[in-house]
Amino acid sequence: MDTYAVVGNPVAHSKSPFIHARFAQQTGRIMHYTALLAPLDRFEQTALDFRKTGGKGMNITVPFKFEAFALANQLTDRASAARAVNTFWFEEKGKILGDNTDGVGLVRDIEVNLNFPLAGKHILLMGAGGAASGVILPLLQQQPGLLAIANRTPDKAASLQRQFASHGNITSGYYHDFAGQNFDLIINATSASLHNELPPIPADLFHGTSLAYDMLYSSRLTPFLELAKMQGAGYLADGAGMLVEQAAESFLLWHGIRPETQTVIRQLKDNLRHPTS
Ligand code: ATR
Repeated sequence: MDTYAVVGNPVAHSKSPFIHARFAQQTGRIMHYTALLAPLDRFEQTALDFRKTGGKGMNITVPFKFEAFALANQLTDRASAARAVNTFWFEEKGKILGDNTDGVGLVRDIEVNLNFPLAGKHILLMGAGGAASGVILPLLQQQPGLLAIANRTPDKAASLQRQFASHGNITSGYYHDFAGQNFDLIINATSASLHNELPPIPADLFHGTSLAYDMLYSSRLTPFLELAKMQGAGYLADGAGMLVEQAAESFLLWHGIRPETQTVIRQLKDNLRHPTS
């Protein structure tokens, strides 16, 4: 049987095995998809050992996306733009193809599932780490009016701004630099919610027509979404839809078929609320 895995540290919480099992069921594929914990200093060995035992493909999660980028010996355009990889495909001839499906997953969730077209919109992206860099190009490809990157350490945001400057209208700075500006979409791509913290968000950022999007997901509102709600954001979404959409894109790469996602997003949300479902 073909085997696949998600590799991370920590990884026990990952919902990728749940999602891929539903995709396999839906499309009639017989495959095994498991979660693999890699020691922090042994990502490469873990990935190569998995391939040696017959692994066909892999998803890569925190904190290994940059190492996965370095290990791949062939990259899709979107992975090389992101400089981060979340999907490996172990090709027959021994090559490791690296892809990044995070950005396209985010864009599909926002534009298709949430019916929020990005063309002409003003977007504030909070954070400048691996999660942020993976989504910048796919966001710019939708031709927003502006993409602003805010980060606690503004040099990192400025470096992303330079990296992607030729792809669209992009700016960067501290959080407070964007106080009083009008954004249609505010995305939290920081890891602050993981530690139950919040980025220093200016007080007047959200309004009735703005969408607040947290790339993390949870059974309850994340601290970022709580704040956005309190400050009057019209629409709230967490990263459950993005997770399912990026998984669907990996599934497409491996199996040549795109699974239906709406049902699986609903199943994932139910599972988050009632983990035994
Ligand atoms: P990931 O791969 O999840 O993006 P990362 O590369 O370590 O992880 O990046 C984490 C991001 O979250 C960074 O933008 C970080 O800000 P700094 O670059 O200033 O460190 C941001 N971040 C983490 N905790 C934060 C907090 N409490 N407030 C604001 N930003 C935070």
